[in-house]
Amino acid sequence: MEVTNKYIVIKHHIDGAPQESDFELKTEAFSLSTKPGKNEFIVKNLYLSIDPYQLNRMKNQSPAQRALDYVDAIIPGKPITALGVGRVVASGNSEFNKDELVCGLLSWGEYSVIKEVGGLLRKVDAMGFPISYHAGVLGFGGLTAYAGFFEVCKPKKGEKVFVSAAAGSVGSLVGQYAKLFGCYVVGCAGSSKKVDLLKQNLGFDEAFNYKEETDLKATLKRYFPDGIDIYFDNVGAEMLEAAIENMKPFGRVAACGVIAEYTDKGRRASLDMVHVVYKSITIQGFSVSDQMNVYTNFLSATIEPLRTGKLHVLEDISRGVESIPSAFVGLFRGDNVGKKLVQVAED
Ligand SMILES: NC(=O)c1ccc[n+]([C@@H]2O[C@H](COP(=O)([O-])OP(=O)(O)OC[C@H]3O[C@@H](n4cnc5c(N)ncnc54)[C@H](OP(=O)(O)O)[C@@H]3O)[C@@H](O)[C@H]2O)c1
Repeated sequence: MEVTNKYIVIKHHIDGAPQESDFELKTEAFSLSTKPGKNEFIVKNLYLSIDPYQLNRMKNQSPAQRALDYVDAIIPGKPITALGVGRVVASGNSEFNKDELVCGLLSWGEYSVIKEVGGLLRKVDAMGFPISYHAGVLGFGGLTAYAGFFEVCKPKKGEKVFVSAAAGSVGSLVGQYAKLFGCYVVGCAGSSKKVDLLKQNLGFDEAFNYKEETDLKATLKRYFPDGIDIYFDNVGAEMLEAAIENMKPFGRVAACGVIAEYTDKGRRASLDMVHVVYKSITIQGFSVSDQMNVYTNFLSATIEPLRTGKLHVLEDISRGVESIPSAFVGLFRGDNVGKKLVQVAED
């Protein structure tokens, strides 16, 4: 059977803040049958994950493009691979059968052809949860928060934790894992609505709007008069500089992402290394793709609080392939509250 497949491409490389006009919707005739003798299968995309790291793939060049397999350069005019959840509609692969739900690298379109089953692709048992959860809280966003907090930061009960982009996909879960574990948690976000949400709905001890602060070092001193044990960094730049100055001896920084630097290649954190040396601070970068070994532990730690409502899920869902450019551009303006997803089709 032949259908029409709508998909999104970039018109050219994007080296600053992305605009909707940088993207184009394309349409192609698409066969829903697999070719005989090929090991491939076809997935109808249901929910696509909208992730900041994609911007580093869209640049003319970025060190990110040489670091990880799934962060390769996106070529203008060509389909864009992206994390998501979908249903197999045709298969020539004996391991993946028609009607099974899968999660992993799909593409920013209505259908994906999976030619190679890489390490990120797996079958999904929905376990009674909404399918969207498997592209967010039970997918790579959740695993990033869990692994970054427990494996990289190695928390102890009672420690003082600071999280940036705290109302986003990863940040909102890091803060909640930290609270459930018994830490004191302060988050920052870019609007008063997000700040209220962190304190009133997600149980953060404190939160502040970083856009209203003129001296971030003094702000963090106000919230952490005795210093920060753990900083979970999603943004980099000035916030990282301010956190380093306020860390306690033997503090840990998880370098999860530097979104403030993705849109401006001249913007860098300039760290006062005297703090790092004299306070024996550890700064550790990590990638979720290197954390698949803790996936089972992550699920065990997440399912029970999800079922009992102790872990709140923030989802921000747009609908239709056409909404992908605005959903993506919105990440860099702070439009999203929680995990940004695009629902491409009903199941
Ligand atoms: N290491 C890994 O494996 C891994 C995996 C997933 C994500 N990440 C990284 O984790 C970070 C968060 O990703 P996410 O998927 O959870 O996105 P997200 O937090 O849901 O969305 C991005 C948020 O970043 C904030 N932001 C945008 N531009 C900013 C700027 N110039 N300065 C400060 N904040 C800004 C906005 O919130 P405000 O309104 O608060 O400004 C926006 O809502 C990103 O840096 C991402 O690259 C890393």
